[in-house]
Amino acid sequence: MSSHRSDVLVLFGATGDLAHKKILPALYSMVKRGVLTEPVIGVALEDWDRAKLAERARDGIEAANGKVDEDAFRKLADLLHYVSGDYRDPATFTRLREALSSDKSPLYYLAIPPSMFEPVVQGLEQSGGAAGARVMVEKPFGRDLQSARWLNRVLHIVFDEASIFRIDHYLGKEAIQNLLYFRFANAFLEPVWNRNFVDSVQVTMAENFGVEGRGRFYDEVGCIRDVIENHLLNIILLLAMEPPAGNNADDLIDEKVQVLKAVRTLTANDVVRGQVDGYLQEPGVAAASPRETFAAVRFMIDTWRWQGVPFYIRAGKNLPVHATEVLVRFKQPPIAVFDAVARDEANYLRFRISPDVAIGIGARRKASGDAMVGEKVELSALDTDTRNEMEPYERLIGDAMNGNRQLFTRQDASEIAWRIVAPVLDDPSPPAVYQPGTWGPEEAMAGFCPPGGWVDPGA
Ligand code: BG6
Repeated sequence: MSSHRSDVLVLFGATGDLAHKKILPALYSMVKRGVLTEPVIGVALEDWDRAKLAERARDGIEAANGKVDEDAFRKLADLLHYVSGDYRDPATFTRLREALSSDKSPLYYLAIPPSMFEPVVQGLEQSGGAAGARVMVEKPFGRDLQSARWLNRVLHIVFDEASIFRIDHYLGKEAIQNLLYFRFANAFLEPVWNRNFVDSVQVTMAENFGVEGRGRFYDEVGCIRDVIENHLLNIILLLAMEPPAGNNADDLIDEKVQVLKAVRTLTANDVVRGQVDGYLQEPGVAAASPRETFAAVRFMIDTWRWQGVPFYIRAGKNLPVHATEVLVRFKQPPIAVFDAVARDEANYLRFRISPDVAIGIGARRKASGDAMVGEKVELSALDTDTRNEMEPYERLIGDAMNGNRQLFTRQDASEIAWRIVAPVLDDPSPPAVYQPGTWGPEEAMAGFCPPGGWVDPGA
């Protein structure tokens, strides 16, 4: 694998929503930090110029940060260029070649729908722009196993695997990286991190807002494709994997793939689907759409370490809070020497992923007074030092420019994840309806929970 630095970033989809909300603000932060000095060429169909792209960047930066550092913004604006054109028109790629001038090692960032990958990759090849280049592709990476395989084939015609960077922005989050760090930097966890001591694992990703104008996109995908097959399954891999043999990108990815191979393919009994009341009235949503806006899923991992331990995931739109948490629940003491302790009262490790980052250990201690009865305490380490915090897109674009693949999804992982969820992706039956501001469809969820129940994250 080559570790040279890419000498130009080419952003396909430069006029899109993702570029506005995430990518351009991330480039600004990189410039501000002094880690981006290479030119950035935006490409899209709209008849824009570099001034218009800069204006759009300013708007996105203001929305994301509240304010703009003029000095950093000027530096970013100086780096920006723009090429307008249809992705199916060879002339677009000729113009792009001209704009690339003497740059030899571009990073092409495809922030565009997967249906556009093929014409862009072809255009790059035919114009001679693919040699020595890297390509970074946005999620969703296909919509099932077959389409992911097809996309991989399309990319591999032109790029080798070491030059392909499939993004899952969750892997660029500080708190997600900390899962891995915390596990393998603390030896005290290892003896209990297995089926003998862990009772269950649960991950909740709650959003207290709806599809927010993305009805058309969301109705094509639904909750399982949107966040479970990628972001949340990735969290489970980090919790379940064995320690990597070394520090190379492939060492880490190999271990994740080992877990993926052992995750049982889901059946209908492993899933509860819900749809928020009012979803069918969202613009872009089909009249009687069976798409889920909420899903709870149970994964089983058939390895020596995890056999029999259920890994539950719950995610949805319009839930009571906006928060993501992981809760690892340990088995109860074999005998209640003192007072009886319910399963959800102690013996757990909690990773708060967002909006704040924290690690908590749930335990019991004796309550003051005569009797040997206890009370719950949580020993919690809240991460308050955000000075060096990086947005996921900032970290991931920087890594891709440096050729560091550790936080990206490899081909085998991109395909196995689809194998696991395949049978539950397109259930045509209507999901159970839930009210906005509740924890999903109550009746359908009755009994579908880890032993000891779900723990609802606080706001
Ligand atoms: C995206 C999904 O990938 O992740 C969105 O398409 C979701 O539906 C978002 O809201 C959540 O990301 P984050 O970083 O805000 O938790």
